[in-house]
Amino acid sequence: MEHGTRRLRSIILFSAGGLSVLLAVAFAIGLFSAQKNRPREIVISCGAVGVELELCQSGVSAWSKESGIPARVVTASSNSGERLGSYQLLLASHSSDIDVFVIDTPWPGVIGDFFLDLKDILEPEVREDQFSGFIENNTVRGRLVALPWFIDGGLLYYRKDLLESYALPVPQSWQELTETATKIQQAEREKGRTDLWGFVFAARAYEGLTCAALEWVHSAGGGSLVEKNGEVSINNEAAREILKLAASWIGTIAPRGVLGYMEEETRTVFQSGRAVFMRNWPYAWELSQAAESPVKGKVGISVLPKGLNANAKATSALGGWSLAVSKFSKNPEASKSLAKYLASRSEQKRRALRGGLSPTWRSLYDDSELLLKNPALRDLKPVYDSALPRPSKVVASDYNRVSSEFYEAVHGILSGGQPDSLLGQLEADLTLLKKKGRWQ
Ligand code: GLC
Repeated sequence: MEHGTRRLRSIILFSAGGLSVLLAVAFAIGLFSAQKNRPREIVISCGAVGVELELCQSGVSAWSKESGIPARVVTASSNSGERLGSYQLLLASHSSDIDVFVIDTPWPGVIGDFFLDLKDILEPEVREDQFSGFIENNTVRGRLVALPWFIDGGLLYYRKDLLESYALPVPQSWQELTETATKIQQAEREKGRTDLWGFVFAARAYEGLTCAALEWVHSAGGGSLVEKNGEVSINNEAAREILKLAASWIGTIAPRGVLGYMEEETRTVFQSGRAVFMRNWPYAWELSQAAESPVKGKVGISVLPKGLNANAKATSALGGWSLAVSKFSKNPEASKSLAKYLASRSEQKRRALRGGLSPTWRSLYDDSELLLKNPALRDLKPVYDSALPRPSKVVASDYNRVSSEFYEAVHGILSGGQPDSLLGQLEADLTLLKKKGRWQ
């Protein structure tokens, strides 16, 4: 009897133990499959110039809410060249850490092979409403490697109030800008505004200087560094002359510090009221008009000046950023859906209203709500239509090297180096690169 009870108890205990083991196993399996079925987190790498990061975060959160898929934003360097370097490292190691990359206009030919073809998620009517140059720029060997997100072009910002009080017009040529800036800077300094400069621009040795210097050279009739047929055109008289003029600005109408400035350092000086003119991208407009901005209501924007010679033509460098989906993403469909959402008309309109970033949808330039907020938008459309692309199509994967050779040479000239020898050396280096890279 005694023996029987003990046996019964151990059977009960054993079964109870077995049951809990079974329950634990079932729980673990359930947990595992829930994990497996739960959508993976999508990671997007966004820029952080001005309000870019904040706008990216709010857009990504809205998509997450709508799709139920978790997403995380990681930040990238505000220096375009450095950002390309870090992306190249990640992509070359086939890393799946980042699903969606925000890429600069010259990069499709450099890293485009690492991205999925997004042709199938760009409907024909959407495609038709985009700046055609942008779509062409993002198309590599027939593959659409990124969806246009926002477009940029170099602009001249000026102090309306100062030009008015000296009865001076918005300068049409670089020579006129030099004179106007000198005059106002001198007169204001005599009145005690000793911290006022005539002109600020980003002249650190980086991608932004490539954009500014291309504008100077092209607008003076000196070509576009490497022409569409692969010709290295930079070593010419018009380019030498305009770069000499730019070098004369350093330490006279521009602080020597500009040699270390990128976009945000430039904007900070202008927005605090310490410069008459500024070269920057459109994002600086919205911020200069913010309630707490010391120059609110005192700023005008215009196309950049040009050179004085016969074939001079006001030039704005084409910039902007696009959304690309990594080939190594573990969740390509969700990543594509995020890219499509962010590139959509309504999201681009929200970003234009909230942060002044220029949409890539042409019809938004006629949108009454947007025009009410930013009337200058109407004038920006022709600027983007005729903006000068950097020579990335023709030099393709050599672009980063070409651009860095160029900005180093220009930085050398601005720092007091000889334009003749620096442009001669640049021409020789690029010609060698051309032979190796067989451009065209
Ligand atoms: C802006 C432009 C980009 C350019 C960069 C240079 O972000 O949109 O195209 O390369 O400035 O600093």
